[in-house]
Amino acid sequence: MRIIRTKNYEEMSHAAAQLIAAQITLKPNCVLGLATGSSPVGAYQQLIQWYEQGKLDFSAVRSVNLDEYAGLTPDHDQSYAYFMRHNLFDHVNIDLANTNVPSGISGDDECTRYDQLIANFGGIDLQLLGLGVNGHIGFNEPDDHFSLGTHKVTLTESTREANKRFFASLDEVPTHAYTMGTRDILQARRVVMVASGENKAEAVKQAFFGPITPSMPASILQFHPDFVLVADEAALSLI
Ligand code: F6R
Repeated sequence: MRIIRTKNYEEMSHAAAQLIAAQITLKPNCVLGLATGSSPVGAYQQLIQWYEQGKLDFSAVRSVNLDEYAGLTPDHDQSYAYFMRHNLFDHVNIDLANTNVPSGISGDDECTRYDQLIANFGGIDLQLLGLGVNGHIGFNEPDDHFSLGTHKVTLTESTREANKRFFASLDEVPTHAYTMGTRDILQARRVVMVASGENKAEAVKQAFFGPITPSMPASILQFHPDFVLVADEAALSLI
């Protein structure tokens, strides 16, 4: 595990975008595992800027997103499919047909289909992650075991609470989601996590400087052979 320590969110975003850009340069048809939420937005903005300057080409890139809320259609403005178009896909030359987000409305067959899709791609070259305040990765919440493939989860109150800022009220935050499993994430050849802000400091400390345990799902990344944590000073303030 490597840690890239940055001063603030802006520097963190720049450093993470450099790793993603390096992956695209190394393998133009790479498979990127992508995340939503506040943490990766700055990195996506940097990638868009490099694309606009002619420094990056997404034309052969393929992508698989980590997760989607159950019950939201891709055109719902809080769906993760919508988020990805709005924050990245609509602004670069990626072929939308090569982008994938789990369907929130297809039912449980979606889980098998999504894992098969990842397998057919030959796995993920670089997986980008954020970190939940309770240590979740994707929507793999604290549990008594590490999850395997894509599955449907019940969101914890802490996660719904953390995500309610994007919705009109807590009642509107979906109660369930589809997420890649911990095994799917760990099988990516490279994993890059972005973490920013004091509210992530406790999770960073427990996940990467404590025991490997499914009660802190991100802790399993300690086992990954090519894991980089890109975090700002606030997120690293407890270590
Ligand atoms: C998003 C995802 C989540 C977030 C996490 C942190 O696709 O899978 O695990 O990465 O909830 O969210 P932010 O970045 O909003 O603090």
